[in-house]
Amino acid sequence: MNVLVIGKGGREHALVQKLADSLRVDTLYAAPGNAGMKEATCVDISENDIDALVQFAEQHDIGMTIVGPEAPLAAGIADRFQEAGLPVFAPTKAAALLEGSKSFAKAFMQRHDVPTAAYATFSDPKTAKAYIEEQGAPIVVKADGLAGGKGVVVAETTAEAIQAIDDMLIGKTFSEAGSTVVVEAYMAGKECSLMAFVNGSNVYPMITARDHKRAYDQDKGPNTGGMGCYAPVPDMTESILDFACEHILQKTADGLVAEGRPFTGILYAGLMLTTEGPKVIEFNTRFGDPETQVVLPLLENDLLQVLEDVLAGIDPQLTWEARSCAGIVVAAEGYPAAYEKGMALPEFAGDTYTVMAGVAEEEGRLVANGGRVMLVGAKGQTVKDAAEMVYKALNTTGKLEGYFYRKDIGV
Ligand code: AMP
Ligand code: GLY
Repeated sequence: MNVLVIGKGGREHALVQKLADSLRVDTLYAAPGNAGMKEATCVDISENDIDALVQFAEQHDIGMTIVGPEAPLAAGIADRFQEAGLPVFAPTKAAALLEGSKSFAKAFMQRHDVPTAAYATFSDPKTAKAYIEEQGAPIVVKADGLAGGKGVVVAETTAEAIQAIDDMLIGKTFSEAGSTVVVEAYMAGKECSLMAFVNGSNVYPMITARDHKRAYDQDKGPNTGGMGCYAPVPDMTESILDFACEHILQKTADGLVAEGRPFTGILYAGLMLTTEGPKVIEFNTRFGDPETQVVLPLLENDLLQVLEDVLAGIDPQLTWEARSCAGIVVAAEGYPAAYEKGMALPEFAGDTYTVMAGVAEEEGRLVANGGRVMLVGAKGQTVKDAAEMVYKALNTTGKLEGYFYRKDIGV
């Protein structure tokens, strides 16, 4: 079967790497892909050019399409593929609203009794500010729509929260995405990402992962797309996991069916492990990045078979390697602000794997071309073993001129 992966980052390279192991895949395409995806044929079509993607899939006899990023999902790519009779593992526009609108997601969780922080929704700055004054800090302000992971302000003071209201509702920093805001109670705890393959009410959870979103060690510095990750999360106990699967993932899938917007694809719950149990921070309606880069290497099944089974209503019988995986992002100096480009790519010795993200080809060699350039990962008996293997490889490479990475993930 010919398979198409849509997107260009590390998440999509991890999907490509996993699908390349499948004996059932004939030609593997990535659109637009990146120059580091040696396992796939990259096609120069933007992830947002839905017309061209449908046409490509029709012309190249694509039997399965997997969509990485959120923007095409919110724009209805799955609906368009379905209308054209093309198999696609992705939620419809109606189901993708769970990620595309935080106010929709919060109201949905309230309707279905899915544990999450108390909240209120505003488009008027005055009432939003009065609510913040009344609630006090810490408090969290979120742009309603898609803001590339940047639309959340965790405010330690009411002044900071009020500034966020001014920025979003008056300054329009996130344009339409921020014309409505969700103001939410602060939750203390450790975070955990839980993803599942979902089709209607059938939910098949993956192992858990923990992303590290801040740029620098000890969770300091600005938020990023994710600086490193490990899986499974050692402090996620069996009983918390069972609770989360039943009261968060299953309830959400059932609720979406009941509301006439059944979900097909990857449902991702960002969880806060609070003293009152796991609560939802956010839903994504796609594979997490970088979570996918440490979760898929531990999946023992053929990924294409899993996707086909789930679409056909068959239990894919997921099995996972009884090891752990850690991945550290090597980023360009300056990221997430302005950063350098064009540096040669470092190579790593030892028992590690690399997933390419912000790379391009120049004169026949790969060079850095994005903020998060690549992820270096390893498997070990424990998260700590795996992370130490990655750090050993990173340290023995010598000084990584023009790059930086976090030194405290998983160790
Ligand atoms: P989100 O884009 O909704 O995942 O939020 C980005 C990050 O903000 C999360 O990964 C958390 O670290 C933090 N965050 C979001 N909502 C809350 C909350 N209610 N309480 C504490 N931290 C939060
Ligand atoms: N790792 C967070 C995300 O994929 O949105």
